[in-house]
Amino acid sequence: MVATTSIHGMWTTRLAFILAATGSAVGLGNVWKFPYITGENGGGAFVLVYILCVSMIGIPIMMAEIMLGRRGRQSPINTMRTLAHAEDRHGFWQLIGWGGVIAGFLIISYYSVIAGWAIAYAFRALGGSFTSLTGETAKDLFGALTGDPERLLAWHTIFMVMTTIVISRGVRSGLEQAVRVLMPALFGLLLVLVGYALTSGKFMDGLKFLFVPDFGALSAGAIITAMGHAFFTLSLGMGAIMMYGSYLPASASITRSTIIIALMDTLVALLAGMAIFPIVFANGLEPGAGPGLVFLTLPIAFGNMPGGLLFGTLFFVLLVFAAWTSAISLIEPAVAWLVENQGFARVRASVYVGIVAWLLGIMTVLSFNDWAFSFDFAGEVKTNGVFDLVDILTANFMLPLGGLAMALFAGWFMARASTQDELALGQGPAYRLWRVLIRYIAPLAVVLVFFNAVGLL
Ligand code: TRP
Repeated sequence: MVATTSIHGMWTTRLAFILAATGSAVGLGNVWKFPYITGENGGGAFVLVYILCVSMIGIPIMMAEIMLGRRGRQSPINTMRTLAHAEDRHGFWQLIGWGGVIAGFLIISYYSVIAGWAIAYAFRALGGSFTSLTGETAKDLFGALTGDPERLLAWHTIFMVMTTIVISRGVRSGLEQAVRVLMPALFGLLLVLVGYALTSGKFMDGLKFLFVPDFGALSAGAIITAMGHAFFTLSLGMGAIMMYGSYLPASASITRSTIIIALMDTLVALLAGMAIFPIVFANGLEPGAGPGLVFLTLPIAFGNMPGGLLFGTLFFVLLVFAAWTSAISLIEPAVAWLVENQGFARVRASVYVGIVAWLLGIMTVLSFNDWAFSFDFAGEVKTNGVFDLVDILTANFMLPLGGLAMALFAGWFMARASTQDELALGQGPAYRLWRVLIRYIAPLAVVLVFFNAVGLL
């Protein structure tokens, strides 16, 4: 055991941790990304692989990541260095932390731009732009936003400033209260939307698309995208959850927290899918419409339902909040490292990190207009240039690689007694199951999916 508390502060209770980690997990990944990649990758079979990955790879790795964080009690870089030392292992394990910081910067660079879309849509909802929207006019509305780099830059700037302000004050203040209100509200609004989808006339088509697997539609690209998304949606593989674990009191159960977080995260994603796909089919839209899918479909629902002005505004505001509570976890490891190793005050560290993230975000701002280019990924045509490249690099490769390294460290390079002590599951079947998953199943699955994606399998 290295330290019993973190210098950056601690969660006061296990619930505070669960709320913060759920705040990190539930975000644009669930409402924006899950539906559009499900649409691009053919539906049911993709969803099945994704759920398999969440349960067989995501859950054991999340337990490992929280455990490592709690044992190291520092930023992921220093946590991994300390733990490697404590277990008599080579210092290169801290590369997990470094890779995570880079992945965090890359992800937030585009995450912030998409969150900016949600801010823009909150204002449009309020202004009544959704009234009587159809599939065609929804496309025009969306195109007017993404085709205008100056507007995108302005919203991106606003979101990065919001994120920097919160993170400069420390991740604990207000996060717990925010998530406590936010999650039930988001949940309620998703139910309203599913209710609307029920009346769309294509509800069953939507459900079929989501839940009836067509394995013919399952390309190698779809498999690695599903696995990558399991990491992305659970905030795994880059140290965000490790960081949050470092603030977790020693007595809290890691296993139970993990299961709760994963269940809530999956539920939100599936509800979003159930709301969106019926609207896709009822309005002549394409499931594979790409990153604009949520912004094309849900405004149609709001524009045609009673109370849509209120619900629509509320929904996009909540989506911005959900993105906000995720974004802070993406840069917390970098901020914590600057505080620990460079002796920066938290505010200064946050401002530096915020500026770098903002600058990187400009690449995504231009990906939908001036710099747009197409390329092929595993047989699928991607049209949004650098945005798609960064997304594929991080979600499909960097996060699974980071998670693989964490699994190997926790499963093979830490003493069994260390993990047993930290997980506090005793010697029983639960611990043994975790150990099999973290030593064999999760690493093998990641490696097999990688080989499959590059055509070796
Ligand atoms: N999980 C968040 C979402 O689904 C995004 C996110 C936050 C994330 N922190 C992360 C993704 C760390 C990967 C790694 O929107």
